[in-house]
Amino acid sequence: MKNNEIILILDFGGQYNQLIARRVRECNVYSEVVPFDISLEKIKEKNPKGIIFTGGPASVYADDAPKCDEGIFSLGIPVLGICYGMQLMTQTLGGSVARPDKREYGTTDVQIDNTSLLFKGFDTKNGFLMSHTDYVETLPSGFKNIGYTSSCPNAAIENVEKNLYGIQFHPEVNNSVNGTLVIKNFLYNICGCSGDWTMSSFVEESVKNLKEKIGDKKVLCALSGGVDSSVAAVLVSKAAGKNLTCIFLDHGLLRKNEGDEVEAIFKKQFDINLIRVNCQERFLSKLAGVTDPERKRKIIGEEFIRVFEEEAKKIGTVDFLVQGTIYPDVIESGLGKSSVIKSHHNVGGLPDYVDFKEIVEPLRSLFKDEVRKTGLELGIPENLVYRQPFPGPGLAIRVIGDITEDKLNILKEADSIFREEIANAGLHKSINQYFAVLTNLKSVGVMGDERTYDYTVALRAVETTDFMTGVWSKIPYSILEKVSSRIVNEVKHVNRVVYDITSKPPATIEWE
Ligand code: XMP
Repeated sequence: MKNNEIILILDFGGQYNQLIARRVRECNVYSEVVPFDISLEKIKEKNPKGIIFTGGPASVYADDAPKCDEGIFSLGIPVLGICYGMQLMTQTLGGSVARPDKREYGTTDVQIDNTSLLFKGFDTKNGFLMSHTDYVETLPSGFKNIGYTSSCPNAAIENVEKNLYGIQFHPEVNNSVNGTLVIKNFLYNICGCSGDWTMSSFVEESVKNLKEKIGDKKVLCALSGGVDSSVAAVLVSKAAGKNLTCIFLDHGLLRKNEGDEVEAIFKKQFDINLIRVNCQERFLSKLAGVTDPERKRKIIGEEFIRVFEEEAKKIGTVDFLVQGTIYPDVIESGLGKSSVIKSHHNVGGLPDYVDFKEIVEPLRSLFKDEVRKTGLELGIPENLVYRQPFPGPGLAIRVIGDITEDKLNILKEADSIFREEIANAGLHKSINQYFAVLTNLKSVGVMGDERTYDYTVALRAVETTDFMTGVWSKIPYSILEKVSSRIVNEVKHVNRVVYDITSKPPATIEWE
């Protein structure tokens, strides 16, 4: 990692904090989110080109208001305070913050002084997202006003001599047109960044570091076929070559042809040592007769570990175990609660059972979209890189009730038709997750002159950004009609197709 150019983002608990880090990285400058109370020593050690204070829900006058080390303002490092961050800077340096009766919320016209380095290239009036109650009332000495709105007298301030800047609005969100330019101006005009952080420099640097770390030692990786573990495996393979062994468990609960596709990519395209363990029968027999979704998850999780352990034993002691941990999983907010993480049941919580000396997490500093870009950079096919999320327990939680091989096969066929038609219609990038469910329901139908009594398949498609909430996707009727007709015609034992029109909440995305 090129650590010579890093921006630190001090997290004061605002909801857009990770977005700020991403925007900075989009400007090709590496950034890290750190707790607001990070020590001066730590900051000096990281030697950032600039520091950004995020917004946050507190008032600077609250007893438990999060405060940073005041020494930050004397380090000579440029600081940009956003919202709460600006108010904290003001209060700490001797200005005052006031609480009006009303909050200001929404995209608002901000009049700015476009001779400021922060606003280079802007018109004098710009729409930015304001979302605050408190505002800066009087400026600390040495500061000057560079922006205001009709209800916020100090919407932007600067102390050029000390390189300190504050903005009441949120440049990181999409509602702030040209918001990224504010961030870019801070990075390039004020912090003097050169912007050499790109995914290709990341790959180059990571491979170099991994080579140094791994040398000719042995590395093991559990490959799920998901984006993170795939990108991690390929990246490590560039450094470890044949010293990397990937174990890929095909438990029969993957989608149609998925096992073969994963094998082809890793063995043929990347020439990686891949052990594909075909353990469908083993999983099916453990799952026989089990109907409770949580029991299914538990059985699959346990069995996964057991099989992996057996395979790893055959390989013997390894020096490193690769994990596909990504940045949102490791950010510490400093406010006591970590960022949004699904505690969700990832089949693959392995290490305890495997004989290894150290964990390697090559994607630890990347956001999901950066992991995807890295994947593309490494030559991993687009359909894998942009694969929709797929639950660890796989199709086991999409066959409602007990699981049999026949039911799995019906589901695989129906699901494959649905996915194919969504892709044909060009909807695969706008719908975030879509799949078929084999409901345990049989109903009466008629085919030719014959009465049928067969399964009902449900189609599920959601649009979401965080998978914690989501809305059902308004797929055009003509496409639903085609999918329905293809499924009942092409998949034996299905005579009815229904579309799930429930959002999350109250429903979840998966049916189990
Ligand atoms: P729900 O159904 O809770 O799903 O709305 C939210 C997201 O999580 C995925 N999901 C899982 N992922 N193991 C996983 O790795 C699981 O047991 C599991 N259950 C749900 C689901 O596909 C959706 O993306």
